[in-house]
Order: sequence, then C-alpha cells, then structure tokens
Amino acid sequence: MRAQGPIHLSSARDTVDLGVRMGRLLFTGAVVGLSGPMGAGKTTLARGIAEGMGIEEGYVVSSPTYTLMQVYPCGDRQLYHLDLYRIEGPEDLDSTGYRDAVGPGGVLVVEWVERQPSVLPAENLQVLIRYGNDGRELFLLPAGERYEELVRHLLAGQNTP
Ligand SMILES: Nc1ncnc2c1ncn2[C@@H]1O[C@H](COP(=O)(O)OP(=O)(O)OP(=O)(O)O)[C@@H](O)[C@H]1O
Ligand SMILES: [Mg+2]
Repeated sequence: MRAQGPIHLSSARDTVDLGVRMGRLLFTGAVVGLSGPMGAGKTTLARGIAEGMGIEEGYVVSSPTYTLMQVYPCGDRQLYHLDLYRIEGPEDLDSTGYRDAVGPGGVLVVEWVERQPSVLPAENLQVLIRYGNDGRELFLLPAGERYEELVRHLLAGQNTP
C-alpha cells in the first residue's frame, strides 16, 4: 500500500479524534512511528491514541525532559510512549527498555522516530504530520498486512462523526 493522505486536520481536536480512532484499532504488539517538525502535533496524536486505548483516569501522555520512555496503563494493556527528541545516539535506546515494550500486552508509539529509525520493526505504521495552510496534514505509511488492514479501517471511518 502506498502512503495514504493527506488527511486534513484543521484543529488539535481533529488530531486527537484521529488518534482516538487509531487507538481503538491498534492491536497488541503494534508499533507506530510519529514524524514531523517541532509542534506538528505528535504528542497530541499520541494523547488521542491513549484515549482510544482506554488510558486510565488521571494519566496524560507527556514528554518529560529526562525520560525517553513513559508507560501508561490502558486497561489490561500498556501504552509505551517513546520520545526520541533528545536522543544522542543508539546506545541511549538500550536503557529505555523499549525492546520489552513490543512484547505481550503493549503498544509502542515513538515520537521523533526519524531520529532513530532502527527502533521500528519491519512491520509498523509510520505517521507523518506536516503543517498545512489550515491546521495540519497527516500521511499514513503502513508496512505489513496487519497495518494495511488497520489503515483501511481507519480511512473507512474517516467521515463518520
Ligand atoms: N491539526 C491541528 N491544527 C492546529 N493545531 C494543532 C493541530 N494538532 C495539534 N495542534 C497544536 O499544535 C501544538 C503542538 O502540538 P504537539 O505538542 O502535539 O506537537 P509535537 O509534534 O508533539 O511537538 P514536539 O515537536 O515539541 O514534540 C499544540 O498546541 C497542539 O494543540
Ligand atoms: Mg511532542
């Protein structure tokens, strides 16, 4: 499947809503890479994903200065949020424990994935966000049948409120 998009997101609410629908569709073991310039809306999308996965009350996806990876409880699953903005080299990845994150029960979302693309397994979903004239434009690049299926479902629900 080729890159799908652009999906127009005219407000932060649109970004969250797309994330929510993505979060509902994400299967256990899924890995999602988010790319885009500073302020594009990557964390906003991740918050929506968390909401769609049923993040527990009181938790909000954030990007703390000194932690590359945060884990959020979502029912019987976990959302692992890896933000590579401050990564200095591949050795920094080892200390995060992200490799365990893709095991049973987890979904891994990686912000600034272009800084260390090796975190992505062969099958993954890459999401590119860029600035548009009105809000943002988002592209979906699925690698692997399960991710293509997910993108088909996501696009099929695109116009439903
Ligand atoms: N579709 C949109 N249209 C307009 N503003 C948006 C949209 N999506 C998100 N925003 C806003 O853009 C700002 C930056 O969002 P966010 O922090 O999610 O970006 P980011 O890509 O994670 O940034 P960083 O590069 O610092 O990690 C926020 O104020 C957010 O509300
Ligand atoms: Mg961010």
